[in-house]
Amino acid sequence: MDFLKPYATLIESEIHHLKLPEAPSTLYDPQKYILSSKAKRIRPILTLVATGMCGKNIRKSIPAALAVELVHNFSLIHDDIMDQAKSRRGNDTVHVKWNSSTAILSGDGMLIQAMLQLQKVSEEIDFKKLNRVFLEGINKVCEGQALDMEFEDRLDVTTDEYLEMISGKTGALIAASLEMGGICSNADEDKLNTLKELGFSLGKAFQIQDDILDVTADPEKFGKRKGGDIYEGKKTYLMLQVLEHCNKDERTWLINCLENKTMKDVDVLRIIELYESCGIIEEAKNVMNQYYTKAEKALEMFEESKYKGDLLKLINFLKNREF
Ligand code: IPE
Ligand code: IPE
Ligand code: MG
Ligand code: MG
Ligand code: MG
Repeated sequence: MDFLKPYATLIESEIHHLKLPEAPSTLYDPQKYILSSKAKRIRPILTLVATGMCGKNIRKSIPAALAVELVHNFSLIHDDIMDQAKSRRGNDTVHVKWNSSTAILSGDGMLIQAMLQLQKVSEEIDFKKLNRVFLEGINKVCEGQALDMEFEDRLDVTTDEYLEMISGKTGALIAASLEMGGICSNADEDKLNTLKELGFSLGKAFQIQDDILDVTADPEKFGKRKGGDIYEGKKTYLMLQVLEHCNKDERTWLINCLENKTMKDVDVLRIIELYESCGIIEEAKNVMNQYYTKAEKALEMFEESKYKGDLLKLINFLKNREF
């Protein structure tokens, strides 16, 4: 974790100095609230590391790093409304602490703050390109989020459809974070494409792991409700696999639970037991590790540097995360 400290400290300090206005408080207080909660800051760290790996001073990408973290936090505020989530990072979600209208508007406000931050990059950086990658990334996140919701009402989602959905909702911003770091270093197209590919592999690994942690993590550490995805009928990697691998009676019972919109606590516990007895969690961990390995492999084209070493350490840290 120590290698992450300088990056995380830099990001925390920049976030601290954002100086969001005092009023209207219902617009800015929720933004300050979510930004000051305990987060990993993975995306902005990826932006900084990518800039370093492509040869420029990491400070060059501070505005881009802040922009991706702001967008990420905006997406979480809206995601928690969509997923009816009550806790995030160990705190009440914004729509619970305030209300949904306030959460929608403060989320919108954060998206604008992100766009304003990006304007601050220095002159020698290709802003048009940087902005295009940023906006296309956010649009892909929205596409992924739309699929995520559409899948709640379906029982026939395929693994390919699932992978497309998570590439959007989670992969796209992680990929954009890395590519934007490369753009801030004026890296060539080959390097930018590799950074993007690395990001999509990392994003898939990260989301499959998030699906696993939903049922295996200590909610105190993870900061979110145990089984939250099951209560919402989410088609996670685990749910798709269990639908395929459980026996006929279990499947009938499970489909009945999923069709019956309000899931009871006992049903959720039984579904988690089913994941375990069918070996679904181990299988998901294998697939997750394959994507982490793919991300590591993409790194091979970069010459050895402190930043490449840090990115490898970061991937390794993520593999073993508990939150
Ligand atoms: C949560 O992202 C949303 C997902 C894409 C799974 P993180 O796990 O990076 O959340 P924070 O920012 O560290 O809280
Ligand atoms: C996260 O998906 C994707 C975005 C926030 C865009 P999840 O809905 O799985 O994330 P958590 O579990 O609420 O953090
Ligand atoms: Mg969610
Ligand atoms: Mg969601
Ligand atoms: Mg999740």
